Amino acid sequence: MTALQEKHAKLPLDEKFYALEGKELAFFQEQTGIKDEAELKQHIISVQTKAYEVFEYRCIRSFGFTRLKISRLPAYQEALKLAQQRPGALFLDIGCCFGNDVRKIVADGWPVENAIASDLHQEFWNYGHELFRSTPTTFPATFIGGDAFDSAFLAPRKPFYSPEEPAPLTQPLRSLTSLTPLRGHMSTIHASSFFHLFDEPQQLELARRLATLLSASPGSMIFGVHGGRPEKGLRTEALNSAGKYMFCHSPETWRDLWDGVVFKKGTVKVECGLHPMERPDLPAAPEAKFYGLWCSAACAGSMKGFQRLLAKLCAAYHLSTCHKKKEKDWSVALRTRRDDYT
Ligand SMILES: C[S@@+](CC[C@H](N)C(=O)[O-])C[C@H]1O[C@@H](n2cnc3c(N)ncnc32)[C@H](O)[C@@H]1O
Repeated sequence: MTALQEKHAKLPLDEKFYALEGKELAFFQEQTGIKDEAELKQHIISVQTKAYEVFEYRCIRSFGFTRLKISRLPAYQEALKLAQQRPGALFLDIGCCFGNDVRKIVADGWPVENAIASDLHQEFWNYGHELFRSTPTTFPATFIGGDAFDSAFLAPRKPFYSPEEPAPLTQPLRSLTSLTPLRGHMSTIHASSFFHLFDEPQQLELARRLATLLSASPGSMIFGVHGGRPEKGLRTEALNSAGKYMFCHSPETWRDLWDGVVFKKGTVKVECGLHPMERPDLPAAPEAKFYGLWCSAACAGSMKGFQRLLAKLCAAYHLSTCHKKKEKDWSVALRTRRDDYT
């Protein structure tokens, strides 16, 4: 391991990153039943500490799970509407960790019986129950544990372009042990801080796999936020939780990946935007500046002129140095940390 890797890879927990305010505080007070702020803080930190032993994800260390970020994504309100517009619409949060995002969308109106969460680590979901002081009875969303890259868990196939194509879902959600039966049935898929865990070929592979889950019914969408850059490449300013440089797509390469590689060209429309972002949790040179980019990619197309598919995807990036002109450009979109998507 290089000196840089030593410095970045295993970062100790630090409660200075804990900062629940406004809606976040209200959400956690409501969900946990703990009204006292000091008690709530100790409770959250105690679960965070245990979860950090499972794997040292940056989002766990930085309390990213407290930020209600799903609700800040551009596609969120549109996603929520599907629950009303489409009876039985299914929501999937993939790479869900504690399940904070699925809890948020359920709190905002998505029927819990139609909410699914999936993660490699069952322990994180269990810690989610501890964090939110719930049980599988009091919060009966379906959890399906497994590796999204495992073909026995999510069998590869081409995306669906016609709503009639997928085999009917006959099993109760709670009895599912893999995502394969859900292919073509998901109205909404949320994937945040997930793609950026993987290198370029793996991100493509993951996109292909998630695309198979998406229903071809009009308005179905996949959305989320993850690391990106103005130009695709490695984020060399900081190492990720695995001690590696994060691979980041640019808005352009991300768009091209979905429109033409994952889905047939012209059947998807991808929109991306930039979002400055502060990362005080990452070690960086004093002069380093960090920026986030959000990328909203709307996929809208029709197969044989009959079906219309809509997906929204978001990406975030940061870079350590910034040209003055770019600083000016991004300043329009500058937000405080409290408004960050990540
Ligand atoms: C950085 S966390 C992001 C959690 C959450 N989505 C968020 O936005 O805060 C990444 C999550 O992806 C899960 N994960 C990593 N590799 C996975 C895989 N191959 N299949 C499914 N989940 C995976 C991890 O266990 C972890 O909970």
